[in-house]
Amino acid sequence: MKQILLIIGGGIAAYKCLDLIRRLRERGYRVRVVMTKAAQAFVTPLAVGALTNERVFTDLFDLDDEREIGHIRLSRDADVIVVAPATADLLAKMAGGHADDLATCVLMATDKPVLVAPAMNPRMWLHPATQRNVSQLRADGIAFTGPETGEMAERGEAGPGRLAETPQLLAAIEHALSGPATLAGPLAGRHVLVTSGPTHEPIDPVRYIANRSSGKQGHAIAAASLALGARVTLVSGPVALPDPPGCTVVHVETAAEMLAAVRAGLPADIVFCAAAVADWRVAGSAGQKIKKAKGADAPQLSLVENPDILKTIAAPGPERPALVVGFAAETADVVAHASAKLASKGADWIVANDVSHGSGIGSGGGGVMGGDHNRVHILRAGGVHSWPELSKSQVADRLVAEAANALNAKSKSQ
Ligand code: CTP
Repeated sequence: MKQILLIIGGGIAAYKCLDLIRRLRERGYRVRVVMTKAAQAFVTPLAVGALTNERVFTDLFDLDDEREIGHIRLSRDADVIVVAPATADLLAKMAGGHADDLATCVLMATDKPVLVAPAMNPRMWLHPATQRNVSQLRADGIAFTGPETGEMAERGEAGPGRLAETPQLLAAIEHALSGPATLAGPLAGRHVLVTSGPTHEPIDPVRYIANRSSGKQGHAIAAASLALGARVTLVSGPVALPDPPGCTVVHVETAAEMLAAVRAGLPADIVFCAAAVADWRVAGSAGQKIKKAKGADAPQLSLVENPDILKTIAAPGPERPALVVGFAAETADVVAHASAKLASKGADWIVANDVSHGSGIGSGGGGVMGGDHNRVHILRAGGVHSWPELSKSQVADRLVAEAANALNAKSKSQ
């Protein structure tokens, strides 16, 4: 039975660990818990012990514990150590190598994978000291999941700092348990950047223009690239999918934010532009909610064109990735429209698909957008290849494998 050692830090999000423990136990894991002193102000060791059905460890200097199961053994028995919620203070201690309580001693004594789920006030997360500590910990090989962006427990506070949701924590823990990513895959040492999902273009603070993209294809490409050994940056618009564990995920809303995040993520060896970027945004979106006024006409929205991320990235220049792959979502004349896009966008490949409801894909007639399957045509300078209907993850595996071959062939010929 796999063993998880959960270190609960002192934050309001500590209560979410109770649900996490239940879900882990349902999946058959043994969960042992170390609680910091501050964590005990938020949840009681009694509640945690009742859910784990194990003794809860709270104090380094509890001699009984030290005789029965010292901190060295606690860390050795675990298959993975999870720190959730990780506070700014705990991250600072970890980055500095402190060992002044049981939690930090266990973390210093371990050679097992460590997964950290930060949760704190957005300003504390964005503080240069915290960001410095996070960079140090990443460089030390510590994995992170979250934080997520959203409303905080404090009234009126919003931003990055929420503890990752339980499904995301579970996925990240299971990824950590499955061992480090393939170090020797064909994309080892390469950086792959992927855009995914829709963009939301605000009309006013509560309304926006969006599209039906689910992000499933882009997220699958990110996961497939990681599986082949790449370092992966995923720039995602608003989607209902969990972050693929092991990728650096940058969450954005608008096309302008997506372009800025892609630029900040360069250089990259391969870029896959799988996002359904809104072609237009609302000119001068309203700062206040637009109200209905009796007898007044409906408001007129005037649209301006968004920057074309794919075209910008594919333009010749020193930072141009070796391979730029675009997508073409079409509802008619798929290959003809896609080959026009191959030329006009400057991409090396275009992955074209029929997103019309009549495409015959998707049970219930839902089509490609939001569905789990895709039938694509790959357009390159050398011609078109049409693939059979596959699941989106099969499309991703095959596409990334071909991209890795093309990249490696290109490097050899240079
Ligand atoms: N794309 C992008 N930035 C935009 C618009 C599109 O990066 N502002 C990328 C998409 O990620 C995709 C490709 O361009 O890889 C094709 O997108 P699509 O919407 O099909 O093409 P458009 O250029 O918008 O053409 P049209 O809407 O006329 O079909």
